[in-house]
Amino acid sequence: MSARASPHRERILILAPRGRDAVVAKEILRDAKLHADICLDTPELTAEVRCGADLAILTEEATRQGDIRDLAGWVAGQPPWSDFPFVLLTEHGGGLERNPAAASLVRTLGNVTFLERPFHPTTLISVAQTGLRGRQRQYECRRLNEELESRVQERTSELATANRQLINQIKEREDVETTLRQMQRLEAVGQLTSGVAHDFNNLLTVVLGNIGFIEKDVAAAGLNGKIAQRLGYMRTAAERGAKLTDQLLSFSRRQRLEPRPLDLNETVVGMRDLLQSTMGGTTHIETRLHRGLWSAMVDPTQLELAVLNLAINARDAMQVGGSLTVETRNVTLGPPLCPEEPPAGEYVGVGVFDTGSGMSEEVRAKAFEPFFTTKEIGKGSGLGLSQVLGFAKQSGGGVRIESRLGEGTAVHIYLPKAEAAAVRTAAYTRPHLPAEPFHAVEILLVDDDNEVREVTRAMLHGQGHRVLEAGSGGAALDILQREPGIELLIADFAMPGMNGAELVRLAREQRPHLPVLFVTGFADRGALGEVDESHIIAKPFRPDELADRVRFALGYDGSSKVVRLRR
Ligand SMILES: Nc1ncnc2c1ncn2[C@@H]1O[C@H](COP(=O)(O)OP(=O)(O)OP(=O)(O)O)[C@@H](O)[C@H]1O
Ligand SMILES: [Mg+2]
Repeated sequence: MSARASPHRERILILAPRGRDAVVAKEILRDAKLHADICLDTPELTAEVRCGADLAILTEEATRQGDIRDLAGWVAGQPPWSDFPFVLLTEHGGGLERNPAAASLVRTLGNVTFLERPFHPTTLISVAQTGLRGRQRQYECRRLNEELESRVQERTSELATANRQLINQIKEREDVETTLRQMQRLEAVGQLTSGVAHDFNNLLTVVLGNIGFIEKDVAAAGLNGKIAQRLGYMRTAAERGAKLTDQLLSFSRRQRLEPRPLDLNETVVGMRDLLQSTMGGTTHIETRLHRGLWSAMVDPTQLELAVLNLAINARDAMQVGGSLTVETRNVTLGPPLCPEEPPAGEYVGVGVFDTGSGMSEEVRAKAFEPFFTTKEIGKGSGLGLSQVLGFAKQSGGGVRIESRLGEGTAVHIYLPKAEAAAVRTAAYTRPHLPAEPFHAVEILLVDDDNEVREVTRAMLHGQGHRVLEAGSGGAALDILQREPGIELLIADFAMPGMNGAELVRLAREQRPHLPVLFVTGFADRGALGEVDESHIIAKPFRPDELADRVRFALGYDGSSKVVRLRR
């Protein structure tokens, strides 16, 4: 017998080996438009059931004659949705209660309907139709079950995807929060350090100024021995303090930068000798300069200082004979991975690579923090990298460190591209002033810090000027009104109430052409953005620096005395 032709057509199997029983049954069913196939023995029936059928009609004696274990095995192994229907044609008078063999078939074949012979054709048809309908229900159940399963699977995979997305989002959020926390921490440390640095600059002005006066007195008295030596130590220590304060300010991104379009290749070439003497003769120095390098917008002096800082770190990390590479590159960066890195975009990069000790994860994580150092006391202050970072960030770029313990370190500085091409001009150089004497003038000196004002006054006085003092902007305006002879206003920038810039603005209403010199402790230099460097003097300052700036402000070099102020 052939396998089922169409999977949709219902098929009944008949196993009735005796006489014409099978043929008769098939004909009855055909009259009712039911399709049936006749099987000759139990193995064939089992094979056809496996092949696919919807109902089996079999006679009791056929089950007795043949071995139905195989069929029973198939029945037992049906999937959960299937309960294959059998119609068992029993002998006349063979009710189940008197026919234990037939009763046992219920256990082996399961879904069995007993039909006692002789039967009326209508009964056979109706039993067959009932069995087929039941089978259809089972198929329907299977379909629904499969649909449900595939929906569950779909939903499960949707949930898994959503779950993965959620985990990724949580991770991203945690990363952003960590970065934010680090940035906030650095910002807070920056604010703190700039405040401290500002105050220190005031203190150092007083210390260094007074050291200067004592030095003069000591020299005048001809005391050149021990006292002069001790004064020298004090000066060195105070100047070191001033340098540290400077580094603190650059970390807190509050230094005054003078960016201009710069060719970093030129900068690196120009630094070669300095690098070689810093690193010592045994270190091999290599430069890899990118041809077609974009111009960077950066303060040349600060950049040199940053590269030098990195070179010194490299020197300290290397045994004798290591190698230092300075590289320039055009780079396109993706989103930052740590707070030190700049936002995504195009940058001009300068990298300093060494073959030194490298950094552990812990050291790398803290390297940018101000005062973090692994060097012995007195060897490192832990401000080098924080200064480099502060400078790079303030310039609109960032920094990246790659380091492997025992292999070496690469520090990349990323700087913003300049719109214009680099021009070969020197950075700000002090104007050349005629050496000889200028007449003394009347100066109004405004500073809220009494000691700083005292030292400044003494310096100016020592240079022959007449000095009027005010401790606040308001007092200064009063004096200006009273004293028409004032030729120069020297104003501290950061003062409570009215700051230096506001004071100058109001003073100019009375005296539009009054020359001005700002004194600043750096913390506020950003606010003096457009004021020319030559009209600003940074604390702590030496008497000769002050003298130069005063002369410059007064216009003795022929320069303009007009100081522009940012509104
Ligand atoms: N090239 C490098 N190789 C290995 N470790 C480095 C390198 N650069 C920096 N470090 C590590 O990072 C720390 C901080 O560096 P940073 O330049 O800020 O301070 P410092 O060098 O210790 O002191 P300072 O620069 O103020 O003299 C160093 O003490 C060192 O542990
Ligand atoms: Mg260092």
